[in-house]
Amino acid sequence: MRPQVLFLAAAAASLSNAAALAADAQQLLKDKACLACHIVDKKLVGPSYKEVAAKYRLRKDAEAYLVKKIKEGSTGVWGPVPMPPNAVNDGDARTLAKYILTIK
Ligand code: HEC
Repeated sequence: MRPQVLFLAAAAASLSNAAALAADAQQLLKDKACLACHIVDKKLVGPSYKEVAAKYRLRKDAEAYLVKKIKEGSTGVWGPVPMPPNAVNDGDARTLAKYILTIK
């Protein structure tokens, strides 16, 4: 294959990976009832995912940090209301953390 073709194929693959991540994560946000307390761009019970992404995007361990918070819950970071632990497995928590960090 010519280099341009390879480049286009790689670009298309990474675009569809991003789209697949977003689709999986958005389904999980619904299934796991995250949306009862969070919306993407406004504070509800918890912080908006935009604010969360902005706060942690530059942190090296952001994904691992959020995976732990999503699974175990969180308290005292954004205000007086705690987040209870959520019933998600490691893979789901990672999908959610990765996706939240992409939100701008
Ligand atoms: C019962 C309401 C509630 C539910 C359900 C909930 N959250 Fe939260 N979430 C909160 C609150 C409140 C906070 C802020 C906690 C704090 O100040 O430490 C928060 C914080 C967070 C944070 C930021 C943690 C930090 O350290 O900054 C992330 C990420 C997050 N939630 C993701 C999720 C995901 C993903 C789900 C679904 C699996 C979910 N939340 C379900 C209420 C909720």
